[in-house]
Amino acid sequence: SDNLGVNASGNLTIGGVDTVVLAKKYGTPLYVMDEDMIRRDCKTFQKSIDTYYDGQGLVCYASKAFSCKEIYRVMQSENMGIDVVSGGELYTAVQAGFDVTKACFHGNNKTTEELNMALDYGVGRIVVDNIYEMEHLNQLAAEKHLTAPILLRIKPGVDAHTHNFIRTGQIDSKFGFALETGEAYEAVKKAISYPNLKLRGLHCHIGSQILDTQGFTAAAEVMMEFIEKLKKELGYEAEDLNLGGGFGIRYTEADDPLPYDAYMEAVAKVINGFCASHDVKRPFILIEPGRSIAAPAGITLYTVGGIKEIPNIRTYVSVDGGMCDNPRYILYQSAYDALVANKAGQPKTEKVTIAGKCCESGDLIGENMEIQPCEVGDIIAVCATGAYNYSMASNYNRLQKPAVVFVKGGEDRLAVKRESLDDILRNDI
Ligand code: LLP
Repeated sequence: SDNLGVNASGNLTIGGVDTVVLAKKYGTPLYVMDEDMIRRDCKTFQKSIDTYYDGQGLVCYASKAFSCKEIYRVMQSENMGIDVVSGGELYTAVQAGFDVTKACFHGNNKTTEELNMALDYGVGRIVVDNIYEMEHLNQLAAEKHLTAPILLRIKPGVDAHTHNFIRTGQIDSKFGFALETGEAYEAVKKAISYPNLKLRGLHCHIGSQILDTQGFTAAAEVMMEFIEKLKKELGYEAEDLNLGGGFGIRYTEADDPLPYDAYMEAVAKVINGFCASHDVKRPFILIEPGRSIAAPAGITLYTVGGIKEIPNIRTYVSVDGGMCDNPRYILYQSAYDALVANKAGQPKTEKVTIAGKCCESGDLIGENMEIQPCEVGDIIAVCATGAYNYSMASNYNRLQKPAVVFVKGGEDRLAVKRESLDDILRNDI
C-alpha cells in the first residue's frame, strides 16, 4: 500500500521507518502497525458518515481484527466507537481508558460473566444474538436495577460473495435472528416488552472481505423495510441501525476493492432514498470496519533461516514464524504479497513458497509468492497483515507471540512486548 516505500539503502520502509532497522532493533518475527495510516482510515470512514448522514452516526472499529491496549488508545483519541466480542476485548479496552459507552458488545454465546461485565462497565450497546440471551440479560439487568441498552442482531438473508467461513448474513448462520422466518419480528416484540431492556435498534453484518457494494446495499434495503414494518405494525421506531463491517481490502493484485467511501456512498443512497420515500425517520447509522482499518496498516517481518530447492517443483523459503502469527493461509488459503525487505529496490524475479516453522506441512505463508532473490539472513516482509494475524495468533508448538511495534510520524515504539519463555509457562502448575 501507499505507506510502504524504499529508502536510499534499498530497504523497505513503513510510514517512513526502515523495516530492516526495526527487525534489528526488536527482533523477528515482528508485527509493525502504521498508526498514521490507521488514523487516516478512521477519518475516511468518519468523513463518509459526516457527508452522507450529517454526522448522525458512529464508526465502531471492530477490534477482533487487532486488539491490544494501544489500539484502543488510538481509537479513543480518534473519537471512534469500538466493537468488542468478549470479556477479554472489553477488559482490554477498559484498561486502556476507552469510553465503552461507545462500544458494541457482540457474540452468539456471551457468558454470564461477560454480560455482567458489559452491564457493570456501562457498555453502550449490547448486541443480543438470541432469545435465551435476551431473557438472561433482562434478568441480570433487573438484579442490578439497570436498563440494558441493546441492539438485536438480525440475519437479513443476504448472501455475501466471500469465503464460506466468513459469510454471516444468510439464514444458515449461527449469528442472530432470522428475518424470513418471522423470528426477528417476534424478537423485537419480546425485546420491547422486557422492563430491563431498552431496544435501541437493530444490527446486521453480512460477512467480511466483501469486494462489491451489492450485498451491502441489499442488506441496507432489507433492514430499512423491516424498520418500516416495525413502525407500522408495532409502533416501534428503531433509533439505531448498525450495518456491521466487511469492507474488502487489497491483499494482492488479484483483489480489486472499492475505495471505502464508495461502499458508504452506495449504502447511504439506499438509506436516504428509503427515508425520503417512506414514513420512517433515518436511524443513527453505525458501521463496524475491522479489517479495512487494521489490515493495510500492518506488515510482518521475518528472518529467512533456510532455503530448500526441490528441483522442478518448488523452493521453500523457511521463516522464523508462520501459522502461529499468521494462521490465515492454513485457515482460508489467503494470499499475501511479500518482498525481501533488505532488497526492496530490486526486481522480484523469484517464485517461492514461504514456509513457517511449525510442525505442520500446511504451515505456509503462501505458495507461488513473487519475491526478490533471497538468501539466509534476509528479512522478509509480508504485507497487509494488520488484521486477523496478531489477534488470531497462537502458541502452537509453544512458540512465543511476536512483539508489536507502532510507527507514527517516522518514529517507532513498542506496543506489545514479545512473549518470553516464562510467559509461555505462566499458567503451568
Ligand atoms: N461486525 C461484526 C458483527 C463482525 O462479525 C465482524 C467480523 C466485523 C464487524 C468486522 O468485519 P471486517 O470489517 O473486519 O470484515 N478471521 C477472518 C475474519 C472474521 C470476521 C469476523 N467478523 C479472517 O481472517 O478473514
